[in-house]
Amino acid sequence: MSTEIIINLVYVASAVLFIFGLKLLGSPDTARRGNLISAAGMFIAVVVTLLDQKIIAYEYIALGIVLGALVGAVAARKVAMTGMPELVALFNGFGGLASLMVGWAALAMALSIADTTAPVPLFTLVTVFVSILIGGLTFTGSLLAYGKLSERISGRPFMYDGQRIINGLILLAVLACAVLFILDPTNQNWLYLAVALALVLGVMFVLPIGGADMPVVIALLNSLSGVAAAAAGFAIGNILLIVAGSLVGASGLILTNIMCKAMNRSLRNVLFSGFGVVKKVSGPVVEQGEVNPITADDAYYILEAAASVVIIPGYGMAVAQAQHAVKELQTILEGNGVEVVYAIHPVAGRMPGHMNVLLAEADVPYDLLLEMDQVNPRLETFDVALVIGANDVVNPAAREVESSPIYGMPVINADKARTVFVLKRSMASGFAGIDNPLFFKENTRMLFGDAKEMLGNLVKAFD
Ligand code: TAP
Repeated sequence: MSTEIIINLVYVASAVLFIFGLKLLGSPDTARRGNLISAAGMFIAVVVTLLDQKIIAYEYIALGIVLGALVGAVAARKVAMTGMPELVALFNGFGGLASLMVGWAALAMALSIADTTAPVPLFTLVTVFVSILIGGLTFTGSLLAYGKLSERISGRPFMYDGQRIINGLILLAVLACAVLFILDPTNQNWLYLAVALALVLGVMFVLPIGGADMPVVIALLNSLSGVAAAAAGFAIGNILLIVAGSLVGASGLILTNIMCKAMNRSLRNVLFSGFGVVKKVSGPVVEQGEVNPITADDAYYILEAAASVVIIPGYGMAVAQAQHAVKELQTILEGNGVEVVYAIHPVAGRMPGHMNVLLAEADVPYDLLLEMDQVNPRLETFDVALVIGANDVVNPAAREVESSPIYGMPVINADKARTVFVLKRSMASGFAGIDNPLFFKENTRMLFGDAKEMLGNLVKAFD
C-alpha cells in the first residue's frame, strides 16, 4: 500500500475520532473522554502527515511540538475556570494566525514551482487569499476580544459615526487587493496590503462589540478560525485540515446561534448595534424600592420551612468556588424532605456549560439540573429561589423594562418564586453593567457576603 493511501486512511480514522469526540463533548459525563478521543485523532493525524516527508526538517517540527505543548500545558494548568473564555479567545487567534501562515507558505511553494506555461491555479490563489484574509482578521479580532474579556482594556463597545461605512470600505479595499493579486500573483505587494487590511479589519470588527455580547463574538471567532483552517486545507490540498476546519467552523456557528437565541438577539444585532448603547425607547421608569438584607440565621427559618427550593447559580458561584458548599446545602435540604433542583441559564457564568461543569465537579446529579425553559413555567411553584452569584441571568428588567439593553433576553424568572434569596457581596452590577430590579422586589431578601462563606453559614444554621 502506498504511503498516500495509508495517510488518507488514517485521515479518515482521525475524522471519525473528531466527530465521535465532538458527540461525546455534548454531555458533562462523557466530555472528558470526548476531548481525549479528539486529541488522539489529532495526534495520529499529525504523525501520519509527517510520514510523507514533504516537510522542512524533523528538528524544526520537534521543536515546534515541544514549545507548543509546553505553552499549552502551562496555560491549561494555570488558567482559572473563570478565565477560560479569554484562553479560548487566544487559541482562536493563534489558530487564525497559523492558517494565515499556512496559506502564505502554500503560495510561496506554488510560486516556486509555477512557470509561464503552468501558472499557479486560480483555485490555489483564491483559497490562499481566503485563508490569509480570514486568518488575519481572526488573529487581531481575537487578541482584541482577549483584551476586552480579561479587562486589560475596556470591555465596553466602541462606536463612532460612520463606523459601518469605514468597515465596508476596508472590506472593499481587501477585495480589490484580492482581484489585483490574483491577476498578478508574482507582485506580492497587493497581498501584503491585504494582510495589513485584514489585521485592521479584525480590530474594527470587534471594537463595536462589548459587554454581555463578548461570548457570542468569541464563538463566532472560533467558527472563523475553523473556516480559515479549512481554506488553508484547500490551499495545501490536505483533506484532514479541510475536515477539521469545517467541523470547527460549523460547531462554532451552531454555538453562536445558540447564544444569540439565549440572549434573544440576532447575530446582526450583536455585531452592529453595540451592547448597552442607550436605546431611545420610552419605557416605564423603574421603581427601585427598598433593599431588604437578611442574615443567614433568619434565612435558615425560611429554608427550613420550605418544601421546594430552586438554586440558580451564576458567575459569583464560580468566583467563590462555592459549588461544594452548594452541594452540601442541597444534601441537608433534601435530608429535610425539601425538593431541590438547579436552574441553569445557557449563558450563566462566563462560558457555555460553566455551571454544569462546576456542579458536576461537586457531584450534583445531572438530572437535578434543569434548563431555563424547563424551569421557568413552574417557577411560581417554588417556595424559595436561591440565587447564588447570578445577576444578569435573573434580571427581570429583561421582561419589564423596555429601555434596558437586555430587554427581550430570556432570563430565569427567579422573582416569581414565593421568596427569593440573592446571595452576593454587594449591590454591584453583573457582567452587563446594568441595574437589577430583582434586588428591590418585595419578595427578595439579600444575603450579602461571599457565596462560599454565606453557604457555610447557612449549612451551620442547620446543625
Ligand atoms: P453576572 O451577571 O456577571 O453576575 C455575577 C454576580 O456575582 C455579580 O453581580 C457579583 O456581585 C457576584 N459575585 C462575584 N463574586 C462573588 C462571590 N465571591 N460571592 C458571591 N457573589 C459574587 O453573572 P451571571 O448572572 O452568571 O450572568 C452571566 C453574564 O456574563 C451574562 O451577562 C452573560 O451574557 C455574560 N457572559 C456569559 C458568558 C457565557 S458563555 N456563559 C461568557 C461571557 C460573558 P458582587 O460583586 O456584589 O458580589
